[in-house]
Amino acid sequence: MPPTGWDLRDHRVAGADAQPFDPFELPDTIQLGGIDDPYPHLAEARRRGSVLAEWPFPSDVVALEQASDEPFTSYSVLGHDDAMRVLRDHESYSSGVLAEIMGPMLEQTMIAMDEPEHRAHRTLVAPAFRPKLLARWQEELVRRVVDELIDSFATLGRADLVRRLTFAFPVRVIARILGLPACDSERFQRWSLELISMVVNWERGAAAADALRCYFADQVAERRVRPRDDLVTELVETQVDGESLSDDDIFAFLRLLLPAGIETTYRSLGNLLFALLTHPDQLDEVTRNSELREAAIEEGLRWETPVVMIPRQSTRDTRVGDVDIPTGSMVNIFLGSANRDERQYEDPDRFDIHRTPAPHLSFGSGPHMCLGMHLARMETRVALDATLERLHDLRLDPDAPRPRIVGTAFRSPDALPVRFSVAPT
Ligand code: HEM
Repeated sequence: MPPTGWDLRDHRVAGADAQPFDPFELPDTIQLGGIDDPYPHLAEARRRGSVLAEWPFPSDVVALEQASDEPFTSYSVLGHDDAMRVLRDHESYSSGVLAEIMGPMLEQTMIAMDEPEHRAHRTLVAPAFRPKLLARWQEELVRRVVDELIDSFATLGRADLVRRLTFAFPVRVIARILGLPACDSERFQRWSLELISMVVNWERGAAAADALRCYFADQVAERRVRPRDDLVTELVETQVDGESLSDDDIFAFLRLLLPAGIETTYRSLGNLLFALLTHPDQLDEVTRNSELREAAIEEGLRWETPVVMIPRQSTRDTRVGDVDIPTGSMVNIFLGSANRDERQYEDPDRFDIHRTPAPHLSFGSGPHMCLGMHLARMETRVALDATLERLHDLRLDPDAPRPRIVGTAFRSPDALPVRFSVAPT
């Protein structure tokens, strides 16, 4: 049963989602962050040091909001090796600050926990991402979702791939993996998006968090009575050393999957397609040679990192590079900068699928390293394969405005207007 005071059916009838939902009418939910290209600022900051006791953007471009009147210094970790060092040192840098910043979106979720609590939670949910399940999802579900989306515009010869493909794709995959009824997908997408965009509209995000909790409570209660072949059932039944997940743990994890698994994947797929469409020679190569696609996906993740920055708070006096960081400081790790560190990558601003493989930090590192990275890679691969197989002679639409990748903390293209040839019927 849903928690006292909530009636799920009220949301269905009276909620705003009675109206058809077009997320693109809410630009604040899509854009998140006002900067077109943070990379020149990050490169300039890196020249001043791998670790800085300052914010790397000019404050008239992107300011760091201060939560209290206490004077504080924020530290920026910009270099590849130092970023990795901080991410791996979970004793000196706490993830708890994520719950403070994102509130209802991430509180009580493992991403905002420290050891040993974090490990205990991660161990419990990790089996839900085992390779055997991924292989099944790939075959039975992911390709089907992408084909359905492409079917809806394949005969038109032109489309905005953000609106028609990349945006809807991961949310549909997650909804099916979880086993949510198809008729609920629109409101699930709406709540997900409102939750994800909490930073721009706190109240709307908090209401979505409540609605999702209530919705998931219903789903979990149903699986306890009638187990099914889906991820919610997996979570209900998972046991490690005789211990199962509590309902609260399950809600928290499901809520985490939305920002962690939908937002990031939609952005990274968009970034990859943007990179290929703006580098037609490399698009042509990956179209003709599928063996190059894996490298293209990794280079896309490095070149346009979907999550540019992740925060930590120092739990003791530490030193990174040649900078002393006192206890309690905000330490922002710029994955986007680490991935373009010229000491790690030659000509780092160039998108090059033939680059000597150099591991990137887009999935983080250390104990919190992305739990869904194999799922994300698989989804991206399936979507790329389907796009290249089905949309022949794919190119940017010459009559549409040239797309841009936008955003400061999260980045992806605002649109991807393309043309392609339509096979005669
Ligand atoms: C390209 C897509 C993705 C990117 C770039 C990405 C990136 C990241 C990063 C950087 C972290 C570490 C955060 C930190 O250290 O504070 C993380 C954690 C996480 N990601 Fe992903 N992610 C992606 C896709 C996914 C997917 C598809 C899922 C699941 C459906 C997922 C689930 C998670 C979870 C559960 C965590 C928390 C792990 C922990 O705290 O131990 N991610 N992700």
